[in-house]
Amino acid sequence: MRLSGKTALVTGAAGGIGSAVAHCFAAEGASLILSDCNREGASVVGERIEKKGGGEATVIVADVTLENEVRDLFAEIEDSFSSLDIVVNIAGGDVEPVADVEAIDYECMSRNLDLNLKSCILSCREACRIMKPEMYGRIVNMSSLVYRGGPGQFSYSAAKGGIFSFTRSLAMAMGGYNITVNALAPALVDVPMFSRVLGKERWETMAREAAARYPLQRIAKPEDVAKAALFLASDDAAFITGQILEISGGARL
Ligand SMILES: NC(=O)c1ccc[n+]([C@@H]2O[C@H](COP(=O)([O-])OP(=O)(O)OC[C@H]3O[C@@H](n4cnc5c(N)ncnc54)[C@H](O)[C@@H]3O)[C@@H](O)[C@H]2O)c1
Repeated sequence: MRLSGKTALVTGAAGGIGSAVAHCFAAEGASLILSDCNREGASVVGERIEKKGGGEATVIVADVTLENEVRDLFAEIEDSFSSLDIVVNIAGGDVEPVADVEAIDYECMSRNLDLNLKSCILSCREACRIMKPEMYGRIVNMSSLVYRGGPGQFSYSAAKGGIFSFTRSLAMAMGGYNITVNALAPALVDVPMFSRVLGKERWETMAREAAARYPLQRIAKPEDVAKAALFLASDDAAFITGQILEISGGARL
């Protein structure tokens, strides 16, 4: 098992991708800390993991847009666990409707930057504080293929692009501490959130159209992303840092 003896924090653990990462890491022997603002969702994921015999899964609720809650999350981890080896920052999402540039809404823009970019920076700051003295760490941040730019997705793509730049900067600073920092950039991933938000029919049309544009002719499954996260979080990727891994079926925006 590739993560046995490792303690891993997964944020956004109640979500489509976060729960897949949690299941995948549990199957590889990690002790898990599942964090999300959705307590019930994270608890369900934890219960399923334990039922499958995946070992310990501790739920810690935190809103990653609030500095004090991110600080408290890591303080609790420091108090309760002997080490923190892996952090996968997945919590996020696009909260600004696709729009013309003139329609950019200040509140939505700020929320997108808070939820995706600032949360990632805060979480990494706290993670490195714990990992540096341990001289070991694997940090995996969640960008998106729209880090290259996405039509009408102004603030979301800026936030995901910012995660890429931040990931590289942090990788440069943390190399001497044996801490690797990489980012994932999935294209469209089939998660339940889309049909919940868009309705089944709109989502199926969107997924079909995207799949037709991707060379591999399908959109991603959450497990595709989880396996990439596993690679970057494992010692198979010990000499890889500051990289963005596109999980896109060959799609280029
Ligand atoms: N699904 C895709 O097509 C896709 C593609 C590229 C990148 N991403 C990124 O992957 C990540 C996960 O997305 P998903 O598709 O699994 O969506 P999702 O909505 O299923 O998961 C997001 C999770 O983040 C949690 N969350 C939201 N706001 C939070 C907050 N303030 N504090 C703590 N937790 C919070 C939610 O409760 C949810 O469990 C996001 O960062 C998203 O931007 C998704």
